[in-house]
Amino acid sequence: MNILVTGGAGYVGSHAARWLLRAGHEIWVYDNLSRGHREAVVPDRLIEGELADTAKLAGAMVDKQIDAVMHFAAFALVGESVADPALYYRNNVLGSLSLLDAMRASDVRRIVFSSTTATYGEPEKMPIREDFPQKPINPYGFSKLVVEHALADYAAAYGLGYAALRYFNAAGASPDGDLGEDHEPESHLIPIVLQVALGQREKITIFGEDYPTPDGTCIRDYVHVDDLAAAHLAALDRLQDGVGMKLNLGTGRGTSVREVIEACRRVTGHAIPVAIGERRPGDPPELVADASLARETLGWTPKYGEIGPIVETAWRWHRDHPRGYAIA
Ligand code: UFG
Repeated sequence: MNILVTGGAGYVGSHAARWLLRAGHEIWVYDNLSRGHREAVVPDRLIEGELADTAKLAGAMVDKQIDAVMHFAAFALVGESVADPALYYRNNVLGSLSLLDAMRASDVRRIVFSSTTATYGEPEKMPIREDFPQKPINPYGFSKLVVEHALADYAAAYGLGYAALRYFNAAGASPDGDLGEDHEPESHLIPIVLQVALGQREKITIFGEDYPTPDGTCIRDYVHVDDLAAAHLAALDRLQDGVGMKLNLGTGRGTSVREVIEACRRVTGHAIPVAIGERRPGDPPELVADASLARETLGWTPKYGEIGPIVETAWRWHRDHPRGYAIA
């Protein structure tokens, strides 16, 4: 198939683009490089453009005879979304609606959309199933939920076939060390801990150790970025006109902040000094997926079930690219 990959220069999008190529698809990455990296895109496959530019998107879809879209382009920082919600509603919501308009204009009917565990807010029970109430607690989560609703309505009214894939904590890097996580500023746990191992930061501050969890630190479900990519390919194969799939992408295994730091110590051989800080506003104590629906629907089982091997791939990337793509 000919696939348009929005945000294909970003962290998850660049890994998925590579998987699409390897599976024999033709890809075109559509990205404005505001947060993505040119170096993460296969040469000659980049269309630089804004999501808001509906005409350019539609033109690209016709020109490249696009069969389906994978839509990764979005801002994804919870704290930033609270400080500047306009940015999130404009980019994530209006940008996605522009993309959907372009798809309608060029008769492209299939899309795989990057959604998030942030659409659930703070669920009362674990693990999280897809039919749990979606009650986001920040603008980022709302922006993704609005798009999920739009997709469902467009499926019913216009026959759109879609998958909304709700990622838990995307982590790790391509095992060959070519692609990895490079955010500026970095706010995610594993890259920050590995920057401490590299001597780029003095210590890791644990945001709260008084949570109602066994070691007092927050528990997350870290899922390898290549496993996310594999799920996107499986979802693409199963898209049907007028039908929506809403699936959690996680391992079903929870790992605490302290366990992540311990895994990073084991993998890197560095001591990694720790400080204890205040809780970060908006952090739920625990977020773990019930991923059985993705397994049943897509035949998808994550290859990386434990934090150690995930950290190993991330460490290879950070060690070999201490300044990210800047010196790649
Ligand atoms: N953490 C620290 N110290 C740090 C950074 C993070 O203790 O310096 C903790 C956080 O408090 C949290 C855990 O490490 O408990 C993971 O934090 P991340 O920032 O790596 O990831 P989040 O769970 O906050 O964010 C992820 C995705 C978001 C998504 C969110 C939904 O990256 O896109 O889950 O809750 F919105």
